[in-house]
Amino acid sequence: MALYPLLRPLAFALDAERAHRATIRTLKLLPAGRPAAPDPVLAISLAGLAFPNPVGLAAGFDKDAEVFRQMLGLGFGFVEVGTLTPRPQAGNERPRLFRLTEDKGVINRLGFNNKGQAAALARLGRRREGLVGVNIGANKDKASGQAAIADYVAGVEAMAGVADYLTINISSPNTPGLRALQGRRALAALLDAVMAARGDSPPVFLKVAPDLDPGEIDDVARAALDAGVDALIVGNTTLSRPSLKSPHRSEAGGLSGAPLKRLALARLRDFRKATGGELPLIAAGGIESGADAFDRIRAGASLVQLYSALVYRGPGLVKDINAELKRLLPRHGFATLTDAIGTAP
Ligand SMILES: Cc1cc2nc3c(=O)[nH]c(=O)nc-3n(C[C@H](O)[C@H](O)[C@H](O)COP(=O)(O)O)c2cc1C
Repeated sequence: MALYPLLRPLAFALDAERAHRATIRTLKLLPAGRPAAPDPVLAISLAGLAFPNPVGLAAGFDKDAEVFRQMLGLGFGFVEVGTLTPRPQAGNERPRLFRLTEDKGVINRLGFNNKGQAAALARLGRRREGLVGVNIGANKDKASGQAAIADYVAGVEAMAGVADYLTINISSPNTPGLRALQGRRALAALLDAVMAARGDSPPVFLKVAPDLDPGEIDDVARAALDAGVDALIVGNTTLSRPSLKSPHRSEAGGLSGAPLKRLALARLRDFRKATGGELPLIAAGGIESGADAFDRIRAGASLVQLYSALVYRGPGLVKDINAELKRLLPRHGFATLTDAIGTAP
């Protein structure tokens, strides 16, 4: 981990997607390590699951569930694999992944490239240590209406047995039609079907876009509460473009990392208000420090997830965030992380 400052220039000399593939290949060669032990101050219980600490790996890093054990070994409290679609698919044409180094951001238009649910199923196995969520989506040619619902139901049926939780991803900007599933009627129909397919377990989380207007936020919150979803992940990448410096700033796709921070925090607050604190929230978008994680927790998140900051800060970031949280909590008068959730005015 201490080597990351030395390795980063090597990785940054490669195009972003090659660097990512090289990272996955290297991780696969490493021993898995032990998942984090429950931290007495930071452990969180949510949806019947015992999270050893609140810092999770967001979906998209380990799409095909190849290195979740190694990532758990870095200290993540949980790892979300996927997005996995029922059938394998190639995704969009390359180049489709861009580092915005000057902005500490990323733009991607990968389009759910993945090897499919069956391949991941074998790797996930039934018994393991550490919490692993499985993020599911629809294949590109099925991403609207009844066909989309059928793909999500197929995903639930295929992956429920190997997932500690399932995430319904209707918020990727790179699959045409997908985000329309966030509309009130479409979402109610989708969630009813998913919850029926899920039966008693595992918990189901819904991942939403940060690009929703106030009316849409209310509709999504209502539908999630009515359907009995277990938590909301707020949220995915944004199609909006705050002011950016990088030469790649005009690439099409979803923006993540530091430039997403303000929007993601604002949306988290909106969803906290819209759900009246009745639905657990998981924050993602631009989290790159313990202070960022603490802001989200006070704004109502029970857990956080990150991806882009790993690119810039390296694998030591996970333990740094947890250590910083443990310093910040007593300084603000909280004995445990649970005490701090949603305490911001
Ligand atoms: C390269 C890349 C690929 C991603 N792929 C997925 C995906 O397959 N499914 C998904 O739900 N989110 C995906 N995301 C979104 C992240 O899970 C996360 O919600 C978003 O990047 C905001 O967090 P961050 O700013 O810490 O990166 C991806 C993000 C990046 C940067």
